[in-house]
Amino acid sequence: MNEAISLTHRISVTLFFLIYVIKTVLLLSNKQDVLQRFTKMVKVPEMIVSALFLITGVYLLTLVPVIKPMMYVKIALVLASIPVAIIGFKKGNKVLAALSLLMITASYGIAEAEKKKREKGETVVASNVNGKEIYEAKCLMCHGGDGKSKINGAADLSITQADVATIKTVIMNGKNTMTPISDLSAEQAEAVAAYVESNVKGK
Ligand code: HEC
Repeated sequence: MNEAISLTHRISVTLFFLIYVIKTVLLLSNKQDVLQRFTKMVKVPEMIVSALFLITGVYLLTLVPVIKPMMYVKIALVLASIPVAIIGFKKGNKVLAALSLLMITASYGIAEAEKKKREKGETVVASNVNGKEIYEAKCLMCHGGDGKSKINGAADLSITQADVATIKTVIMNGKNTMTPISDLSAEQAEAVAAYVESNVKGK
């Protein structure tokens, strides 16, 4: 379900971006007639695509336990680009149209860069015993960055009584509704347990 929404988001963002690039190129190259025809032609599809793009974006945002600063920059760029684009295209102002495209491109770039970073984080887990990185890749989605999130019924780790050994056992064997995080080695489980003990618990 979430994967389908994420895919819809990516596709609608890409289509939205494409329509935008074409419009801006037409405006910049003084092809007013073609631009007008194109704008008319894509009017309805563009409305659908923009709506999908925004709705799926807002939904995906509600799934993120901790919104990173770059995410705010991305959202601000997208939101700010909308009025700039509307005014730019309405008045045929090339500078504004180009500026809005630049803003959209920048936010697209940020999204891609963040995604690469996330993917890198996931592979790091396999080879590295850095507790913080493992926590962010394997625990944060339920427990949240500060341990207080209760996504999927997770326990509040900031007030847990469990010590390092117990946390390690919970990771390796699971507890009630928490299934074991079985792709971690004993060493990695210990590293993340130590991280929880010193950086999440009691904070
Ligand atoms: C899929 C969601 C999910 C993930 C991922 C997850 N947990 Fe949990 N965790 C839970 C749930 C749900 C509970 C509550 C279990 C219960 O009913 O007692 C829990 C409980 C715990 C507890 C017991 C707390 C207490 O006071 O009893 C610890 C410790 C813990 N998790 C650590 C971790 C660590 C460390 C990771 C990452 C390596 C992790 N969890 C990943 C869902 C998750």
